[in-house]
Amino acid sequence: MRLTVDGTPRHCSLNREDTLLQQGLAAGWPLARSCRNGNCERCFCQLLSGEVIYPDHRRYRAGSTIALCLARPTANIVLGSLPLQPHQRAWRCEIINDTSLLLPAGRSSGLEPACHILLIHDNSITNTTLRRREGRRLTLDAPLASTVPSLGLVLIDAHRCGDWQLHNRACSPSLQWQGLDEDTARQALAVARKGRGQWFVTTG
Ligand code: FES
Repeated sequence: MRLTVDGTPRHCSLNREDTLLQQGLAAGWPLARSCRNGNCERCFCQLLSGEVIYPDHRRYRAGSTIALCLARPTANIVLGSLPLQPHQRAWRCEIINDTSLLLPAGRSSGLEPACHILLIHDNSITNTTLRRREGRRLTLDAPLASTVPSLGLVLIDAHRCGDWQLHNRACSPSLQWQGLDEDTARQALAVARKGRGQWFVTTG
């Protein structure tokens, strides 16, 4: 059996024994959850296709809202947008030297070596990877060509894709970046607006 998430490239294979929450987490998806007994509603999700069964033997079919923590699949499943854990993906960083950045104080992050990141300058975006993280200090794979004291940094999920484009008004209509998923494009825009740049997002 197979689980797909409508409108995204996310999919995973399914077994009948584990809940959709367990199987989604095993697939590496940061699903929102808390109680794991159907009460908190954090893992609720729309079932678009297929059928699931709860521990009390109730069955739910397409069109139902289901608790992923209770639902075990009995068929191929298509879900609507997943309930994801809020996740910090954007930061304003201080520049230490041409290959090092400093995260804001007290911020933990999902930044791990080899992760993909966008560096948002006033007038340009650099797509690069992280070489190393030591506490708040980040070492980049490629040197920066920036002379400003800080820049925006957005973590990119390389497995997600999209047709959103980020532009700078000063450079419009020249394209600054494309192929961002919607969430990343919005976060990149929010970070850019904290700087001096005049950025905007378009689709397609
Ligand atoms: S984790 Fe609380 S309802 Fe599923």
